[in-house]
Amino acid sequence: AEAAKVKLVEDSSKPAAIKARAKGLPDFAGKRVRLQGWVHRLRKQKTNFFVVLRDASGPLVQLVLTGDCIKTVDALDLTVESTIEVTGTVQKVKEGQNAPQGIEVVVDWWKIVGRAPAGDDAFEGRIQADADPSTRADLRHLELRGETATAVMRFRARLLRAFREALDEIEFTEVTPPCMVQTSVEGGSTLFSFDYYGAPAYLTQSSQLYLETVLPSLGNVYCIQESFRAEKSLTRRHLSEYTHFEAELAFIDFKDLLDHLEHVITSVVDKLLQDPVASEILKQLNPGFVPPQKPFMRLDYRDAIKYLNEHGIKKEDGSDHEVGDDIAEAAERKMTDQINRPIMLINFPKHLKSFYMKQIAGDEDYTESVDVLMPNVGEVVGGSMRISDYDELMAGYKREGIPHEPYYWFTDQRKYGTCEHGGYGLGVERLLAWFLDRYTVRECCLYPRYMGRARP
Ligand code: 4AD
Repeated sequence: AEAAKVKLVEDSSKPAAIKARAKGLPDFAGKRVRLQGWVHRLRKQKTNFFVVLRDASGPLVQLVLTGDCIKTVDALDLTVESTIEVTGTVQKVKEGQNAPQGIEVVVDWWKIVGRAPAGDDAFEGRIQADADPSTRADLRHLELRGETATAVMRFRARLLRAFREALDEIEFTEVTPPCMVQTSVEGGSTLFSFDYYGAPAYLTQSSQLYLETVLPSLGNVYCIQESFRAEKSLTRRHLSEYTHFEAELAFIDFKDLLDHLEHVITSVVDKLLQDPVASEILKQLNPGFVPPQKPFMRLDYRDAIKYLNEHGIKKEDGSDHEVGDDIAEAAERKMTDQINRPIMLINFPKHLKSFYMKQIAGDEDYTESVDVLMPNVGEVVGGSMRISDYDELMAGYKREGIPHEPYYWFTDQRKYGTCEHGGYGLGVERLLAWFLDRYTVRECCLYPRYMGRARP
């Protein structure tokens, strides 16, 4: 209590402290700096306090507090996740000592900006690794302060940027289609519906149809937009809301589409490997990452059925797969993990796929469709050539039992100058789960939404 009477005043005789951030701090060695941030870790010793400061610029920074600095009321009260402001001198740490970036800041003045609770409500007590998943999900807003979640979110931002760069390089135009719609793309069973001024409306499942409508004006296009699926199961790879990267290409054939997909995926991987921040995170979270090599394996659906049967991968009911069966998530994952490299699974049966998919000429029960499968995740991309013929499209609506009237604006694309075209959608969280070796897509978005959870 005696010690706690010390009051710190900023020493105006010292050289003015330069406002700095942890990122780039080694450049200030020997200089006096001012830092602001959160107490990430705290070790209080008799003569020293070691604070690891997180100022959210990237790296952490070690602070050393001694002398009067640890004799104040604030010092007694200091807790993890409090915000503080400090001034001090940047020093290289001694040979053999470990600190982020090999430096520490010897603090000469500091104060608490916002005090975090101690005791029962202390941060360390609230966020525990062994807490049950639902409690942890309730505390997502605090979990996001952790090093792993931060790394995933930083990488995610870099990934989105890499997509935009890759598509910009090949002159695709980005558009922002609506999220509130009145037509479905991928079937009625996963639609979220809501009241739209008294009329029924849905949250979009895919922006594909809208992308198709601007091919005649903008040419090749893409979007990065949220998609929504009322998935009624809880799996490692299903969200109710996910970030959907979708692209659409005019005047192409199926081979062009597959080549383009390979190009985009490998180009994005290359960009992230060349990005110092992203590659550092990749090294930390997925040290065994092997960049995929072109060409990707192209596996016909019917050969995949053969593969499953030859390798004893059964259906959920224990029986063998037959041509015409949907390949369930578990079987698909087993096959992909065994093959252990990206696979382009192509030519799915028409009856398994959506109304808009183009059939293979001369093999009309099958479609020019592709799923890209990645080890540890399974399907990350779904794409296809689209029906280019008006009558065939009308037959497609009919086959799927979809009334064609609400789709008049989509059908008009086949009426006013049709062309061969195709595109795809990629689940950003799934690609991230593959990239960063995460157990579930839930770790790969800021605030995951899945059955039963839309909070916080
Ligand atoms: O295969 P899907 O349903 O294809 C479409 O929506 C097409 N209309 C896209 C297009 O051609 N423009 O979805 C595409 C991708 C999937 O491969 C998957 O990566 C992701 O979207 N996805 C999901 N990701 C997380 N949670 C879900 N519930 C997802 N549903 C699809």
